[in-house]
Amino acid sequence: MAQIRAAITGVGAYLPENILTNDEISTMVDTSDEWIMSRIGIKERRILKGEGLGSSDMGTKAVQELLEKTGISPEEIDMVICPTVTPDMQFPATANIISDKVGIKNAFGYDLNAGCSGFLFALATASKFVESGSHKKVIVVAAEKMSSIVDYSDRNTSPIFGDGAAAVLLEPTTEELGVIDSMMQVDGSGRKHLHQKAGGSVKPASHETIDAREHYIYQEGQAVFKQAVSKMADISVKMMSKHGLKSEDVTWLVPHQANMRIIEATARRMGIKKEQVMINIGKFGNTTAATLPLCLWEWENQLKKGDNIILTTFGAGFTWGSIYLKWAYDNNK
Ligand code: UT7
Repeated sequence: MAQIRAAITGVGAYLPENILTNDEISTMVDTSDEWIMSRIGIKERRILKGEGLGSSDMGTKAVQELLEKTGISPEEIDMVICPTVTPDMQFPATANIISDKVGIKNAFGYDLNAGCSGFLFALATASKFVESGSHKKVIVVAAEKMSSIVDYSDRNTSPIFGDGAAAVLLEPTTEELGVIDSMMQVDGSGRKHLHQKAGGSVKPASHETIDAREHYIYQEGQAVFKQAVSKMADISVKMMSKHGLKSEDVTWLVPHQANMRIIEATARRMGIKKEQVMINIGKFGNTTAATLPLCLWEWENQLKKGDNIILTTFGAGFTWGSIYLKWAYDNNK
């Protein structure tokens, strides 16, 4: 019997209208457009505004666009995974809330927390359900309201992050397409460099934790930077050599969008030219789990059936990995 693979058969996304520019950030903290552009490469990011709106509201819109584009009804979906570090609530899972808002009634689902590697880990997980034959229409929807955990009085982190959501549909194929291979890793000792100090079971919310601003992102940028470049490049090179892919065989590299210098250094170490790299960090910043599917969504019209795509990420945990994907359709939808 032919091997079943999981192919991405559609992409949807939602970005909030509100734009936060570097000049506006420069009125909140001691920074400048020049510093942010030269050190990070972000010009602007989107921010979700509105009372009572959370990650699920963006995820819902991304899934609605996905279903509309693919002509699939919510009832046909049998699984939803939501990678996020900014769930609507600690529980229940944002995947359940999105499913409810979209009208997905015949599915099971859950959230997945792997920091900026969330989409990659969720794609690998979802593909196993499709490959096993147990699930036929699986959505991975990354949704992040990073502005809810960014300290806009901290110049180390406030320029970096943005809000957004993007979703992909996975369906079975017996062609040599879709998720070909995944390699992923975690190193929990990296947690000291990138985390949220309070709000979990170790340090529940209290007046003291709020006064100490411990519900925001804490990041030691340089330590994360160094690891990000070497881990993403090394694991992607390993993936390429395992599958006999030379740099010119890679149609697109889709790296996590955390810092332009990290993206360029990773591509350089992999021998990939800049024209082969999807980069939209300048417009959307680091949307954590949503960066990779937001790239696929923006480049969808340029993608061709059979394109060799390497996805790679590095994030809180530490978490990192690489997925070798063969694009499954020419975009005529
Ligand atoms: O997505 C999850 C994974 N996260 C990442 O991959 C992020 C990885 N790290 C980074 O992207 C970079 O480390 C940052 C963008 C966070 C920081 O850039 P850097 O070039 O590593 O700067 P630095 O932290 O070494 O700081 C250099 C200087 C410091 O001043 P002194 O001590 O040299 O006087 C900082 O205080 O830059 C200062 N600085 C700033 N100056 C102006 C830090 N943030 C700012 C700022 N504006 N926003």
